[in-house]
Amino acid sequence: MKLKRRILITAGPTREYLDPVRYLSNDSSGRMGFALAEAAVHLGFAATLIAGPVARPTPHGAKRIDVVTAREMRTAVRKHARQADVVIMAAAVADYRPARPARHKIKKGTGRLTVVLEENPDILAELGHRKESHQMLVGFALETGNLERNARAKLEKKNCDWIVANFATAINARSSRALLLSKDGKRIPLPRLPKEELAVVILSHVLS
Ligand code: CTP
Repeated sequence: MKLKRRILITAGPTREYLDPVRYLSNDSSGRMGFALAEAAVHLGFAATLIAGPVARPTPHGAKRIDVVTAREMRTAVRKHARQADVVIMAAAVADYRPARPARHKIKKGTGRLTVVLEENPDILAELGHRKESHQMLVGFALETGNLERNARAKLEKKNCDWIVANFATAINARSSRALLLSKDGKRIPLPRLPKEELAVVILSHVLS
């Protein structure tokens, strides 16, 4: 029996707790990553989906691992990335976390509160720097300006094979436009499509 090719996909936001009940996060709905996992299952992949906190049904046939923080996501990704033929980082990972989360609920009354943040690990960059030659690594870039220039810089800096660039309006939206850029210079603008369709188109280019 031929072994199925394996794909690892991350989706959704991460949460970074300030105290036991409050957190920093972003608007990511997980729609893009979940759609990619579903499309990959249809293509015959053994798909593992590492999901930040989103209330979405697990795509039929995918193996789902739920995580909350960026560091939990990194641990789960590290555990599963090595066996994957394709890794797609669609998650909107929080870049910073509170340096010293409070053990008890922070009380009001100080007028002003300063929170010190420290940088989270860059999961995609770590994967890129130890990428196996057979592995295909796909990142996303979410930008509010200079889409192509910033996305290409991320593609190179994080040693990806492809990057899916989109504007910040894509976050928590049902549809999105995207610009696909490859390490070897391909530049493929994709029209606005529902994310379910965009996922199929992205996979078809990345796997071609
Ligand atoms: N990413 C990651 N780990 C992080 C931050 C981002 O793995 N700590 C991944 C995302 O999943 C995405 C890519 O890196 O695939 C680009 O994410 P983006 O938020 O667009 O860019 P950043 O690298 O965070 O850079 P900046 O926020 O400065 O634009």
